[in-house]
Order: sequence, then C-alpha cells, then structure tokens
Amino acid sequence: MDLEALKAALAASPENVPLLALVAKSHEERFEFADARKFYDRVVALQPDHGEALLAIARLLDLAGESSQAAVRLEVLCEQQPRFAAAWLLRARIAMEESDISAAREFYDTAVDLDRSLADEELLREILKAGGGKRVAHTSSGDLVEEDDFPFEGLDAVAARDLDLEFRLKPDVKFEDVGGMEKVKDEIRMKIIHPLKNPELFAAYGRKPGGGVLLYGPPGCGKTLMARATAGEINASFFSVGLHQVLDMYIGGSEQKLHTIFELARKSAPAVLFFDETDALAADRRDLRQSAGRNLINQFLAELDGAQAANDGVLILGATNAPWHLDGAFLRPGRFDRVIFVPPPDAGARQEIAKIHAKGKPVADFDPADLAKRTDGFSGADLRAVFDQATEAALNEAMRKGSMIPVSGKMLSKAAKEVKPSTRKWFESAKNHALYANQGGLYDDVLTYLGLKK
Ligand SMILES: Nc1ncnc2c1ncn2[C@@H]1O[C@H](COP(=O)(O)OP(=O)(O)OP(=O)(O)O)[C@@H](O)[C@H]1O
Ligand SMILES: [Mg+2]
Repeated sequence: MDLEALKAALAASPENVPLLALVAKSHEERFEFADARKFYDRVVALQPDHGEALLAIARLLDLAGESSQAAVRLEVLCEQQPRFAAAWLLRARIAMEESDISAAREFYDTAVDLDRSLADEELLREILKAGGGKRVAHTSSGDLVEEDDFPFEGLDAVAARDLDLEFRLKPDVKFEDVGGMEKVKDEIRMKIIHPLKNPELFAAYGRKPGGGVLLYGPPGCGKTLMARATAGEINASFFSVGLHQVLDMYIGGSEQKLHTIFELARKSAPAVLFFDETDALAADRRDLRQSAGRNLINQFLAELDGAQAANDGVLILGATNAPWHLDGAFLRPGRFDRVIFVPPPDAGARQEIAKIHAKGKPVADFDPADLAKRTDGFSGADLRAVFDQATEAALNEAMRKGSMIPVSGKMLSKAAKEVKPSTRKWFESAKNHALYANQGGLYDDVLTYLGLKK
C-alpha cells in the first residue's frame, strides 16, 4: 500500500479510524514498529474497543521483548472479546514463550475452535513437544485415558508429569472384580469410602476423613488390586505412587518430591494417595538409618501427620509384603492406623476369583467349586496362572485341530496340579514375626489364620 497516499488522505481527515489503522499496519509491514505503535495508539484513543489495534499493540510489545505486558493486555482483550480468535492465538504463542505449556495448549485450542483457518502446525508441534498434548493418564492396565478433568494446571501439571504419578479418574476395576475379601472391603468402606461420601455425618461425630490404611499379606492375594478397586468405588482422585519412584530419584531431592506428591493430593482433595510396596521405604533399614533415608522417613511421617498442611480429605492407602520392615513410627494413630491382613483366598473366595478369571473366555464343564477344592493355598495370582496355563493348552489344541476348543474343567484341574501355590513361603517368615515380634497383637490375624491362636 502506498503509505504516502494514505498519509495525504489522513491529513484531510485525521480522525478517520479505518484510515489510521491502515497507516499503522503499513508501518508495521515495513518494520517501522515505533511509528506503527504511534498510529495504533491513536486508533485505540479514538475507539477503545478496536480489536485489531489492541491485538497489534500486544504483538508489538511482544516483539519488543515486553511479553508479560503483552500477556496482560491480551488477557483483558480476550475477556472483553472472547470470540476474537487471533487474540487467543497470540496469547498461546506468548504463553509458550513463557513456558506455560498447559495454558498455551488451552489458548491454542480456543483459537482454533473459533477459527479453523488459524491452525498453526508449527506452534502446535512445539506445544506437543513440550508436553502439552491432550492430557492423558495411564490406567493400571496400561491404557491411556483422556483426562478432561486433569486435576492440575500449569506448574502443578508439570510437577505431576515429572513425578510420573499415576492418576486414575476413570475407574477400571471395582469391588465386584475382586473375589472374596469381604472383610477387607468392609474395612475400606468404613475407613475410606463412607467418610468420603458422607463427610458431614463423620464431622457430626467429630471425625474427619483422613489417616491411613495399610494392607499386608502374602504376594498375589489382591492388595494392589484392592487398592485399584477402591479407586473405582470412590468419586475422588486417586494417585498411585510406587515408592521406588520416590526413592529412585537422586536421594537429596526425594523429600521434596514426596512433599510435592502430598501437596498435589491435598490440592485435589478428596483424594486417595496409594503407596504400593510401602516396604521399599524400609528396603534396607541399616542404610535408611543413615541420614538420607532417615530424612525421607521423617519427611514421610511429617507428611502423614499433615505437619505443614492439613491432610483433610486425603486418605492414605499402603500395601506391603513385609510390614515388619516398616518403621514402627508409621503405625501410630493418624498415620497407618488401620493395618489389615489380606489372607490367601478361602475356598469361597477362590470360587469367586475363578469365576472372575473365567469371564470372557470360552470355557466348558467348568465347575468353580471343584477348582476351588483343588487349589488350597493358592493366591489370586496363582489362580490366574492356572487359567493362563489351561488357556494355553486349549489354544495349542485348537491350533492343532484347526477349530475352536474351549478351556475345559479337565485342563484347569491339570494346570492346578502344575502350578505351585506361592503363599506358603511367605507364611514361614510371617509366622516368626507374628510369634516373636507381634507388636501389641499387630499380627494376631496371621496367627489366627495359621491356627496358632483362637
Ligand atoms: N481377590 C482377587 N480377585 C480377583 N483377582 C485376584 C484376586 N487376588 C489376586 N488376583 C489376581 O492376581 C493378580 C495379582 O494380585 P495383586 O497384584 O493385587 O497382588 P498383591 O497382593 O498386590 O501382590 P504383591 O504383594 O506381590 O504386590 C491380580 O492382578 C489378579 O489378576
Ligand atoms: Mg502388589
């Protein structure tokens, strides 16, 4: 555009807003930013809601390295003219410059939703590369679920991603998927589910939801599964933390990470914070007695106590094979104050578990009660191994015959003979702890299970 001609026209009508805007734009196109700014300012003085001019001023500020000023102005502009797509797009660019990835993503999406033609592949790629993808979470089965209500934004989201926490917002397992364990379910209902569902009622009795439940028992008997199912039963955020995740990180930073984890949970209360393999904290007590590990334990205790911030509405769930390795301080009131033994499934529970494992598989002549009789001492995981082996046998035969062969009761019985129950070994060491280090009856349930106590 001929700038001189425009300016001549402007001399004749100095208050002509469209003309002023054109002159400003011409200057901008020639990289004469100071002049451009002068004319845009005049436009806005005459017409304070001139979107294009306001946007251009923000753009010029950003170019001049004053991105935070630009951001402030854009925020106002987007509030006043929320359908102004180009303003949202510039906001996305500036958020990106300021490394506010999740905001950049949000603004970008808003812009493109308003005006498809603004789609900018390069910017989008940059945002995605920085981790601002459609926010997702891993479910326990390893699937990705889209998280439309990801509990965190901005820096929190980055922290959460860094910590590689597992969030579960969409339940994938429920109590009905856990066979037996009625007593454990009842305890969890009482200690976790009811308090979260009826906070007022509990408050009336002077009780706050909070504190911790520790599940312990032989491997493969459903502790981790039970924790996942708890997540499925509640309408609260669920965070799963493998403690090794915390410990693995270079030692000095671990306490800070632990603190961040608790802080994230507190912010999204009501929430359940699940520490699996809690004994990792006590992996080697002698080592942990030394400063670094000791600090971490102390930090954990302080967080459990809510020393720095109240844990209202944050419930702690832990699972371990070796509760005796856990520092006794964890078991005090307000910390893991309910310790629940998760025994191997009894015959009734084994029937239930067998039915769960059989679900969705082609089975024939399958008698759950019969299988339960043949699998004394089996854990839920052992039962799954039985099904896996029998399924393999059926598959083999199907391949050979070239037709569909169901998993038969006979195949299951055969597999039950081959799979060795894995819980006995655990009881050998548990028995010693229960007999000789039964802290105030902590392991009475184990003794009862072994028939050593009535
Ligand atoms: N009560 C149960 N109902 C249904 N399936 C079960 C049950 N218990 C165990 N299983 C099966 O065994 C698998 C292993 O169980 P899980 O991981 O919960 O054991 P765990 O007690 O956490 O063991 P570990 O102490 O080794 O961590 C489950 O994924 C599930 O397939
Ligand atoms: Mg487990």
